[in-house]
Amino acid sequence: MNKIEELEKVKKEMEDDKSLPLREGATRLVFGEGNPDAEIYFIGEGPGYNEDQQGRPFVGQAGQLLDRLVESIGMKREDVYISNVVRFRPPSNRDPQPEEIAAFQPYVDREIEVVDPKVIVTLGRFSMGKFLPGAKISSVHGKPQVVEWKGESLAVVPMYHPAAALRAGAIMEQIREDFKIIPEVLERRKQDVQEKKAKGEQMSLV
Ligand code: URA
Repeated sequence: MNKIEELEKVKKEMEDDKSLPLREGATRLVFGEGNPDAEIYFIGEGPGYNEDQQGRPFVGQAGQLLDRLVESIGMKREDVYISNVVRFRPPSNRDPQPEEIAAFQPYVDREIEVVDPKVIVTLGRFSMGKFLPGAKISSVHGKPQVVEWKGESLAVVPMYHPAAALRAGAIMEQIREDFKIIPEVLERRKQDVQEKKAKGEQMSLV
């Protein structure tokens, strides 16, 4: 199965999984979208009104800002992968509850495994909590972290949520500034992978 087929399979399983919370109040499932070979995987909170209507993540105002931020680092929306911790719209856009996030987690994790990105960018505190439990977004935003995830080290860059930036000018300035670190983190990550590969190759010659 190629990556597109694997992602389709995960999506279909979610659509069929009647135990998933939030389904009743939502119009449709909002699965992740983007380049299945993306080096950068963005993860937000959950669908809002527009996402629920269109069945696509980050297509409302916050999504338009995210598109501009992605462009500010020389990439296009189609180059990256964009998803959320919960995949049905919470009623009246309320915060997702811990047990709701937990219910979607196995599917989100499989999606991440399929895409296999080099860098994960969390948008807001709920997706940050997935990788950095207990962290405070006001202290760690824009600071790349290396976390152990499923036995591998993973580069995670926590960011403020674009919706928070739309509400407060100071956060808008900060998120614009914080995004500038992403290309650097990606380059460093690629170098690490190459160095590891070179070492492995040398070792196999001994
Ligand atoms: N906010 C999110 O966290 N996700 C979306 O898809 C849209 C808005």
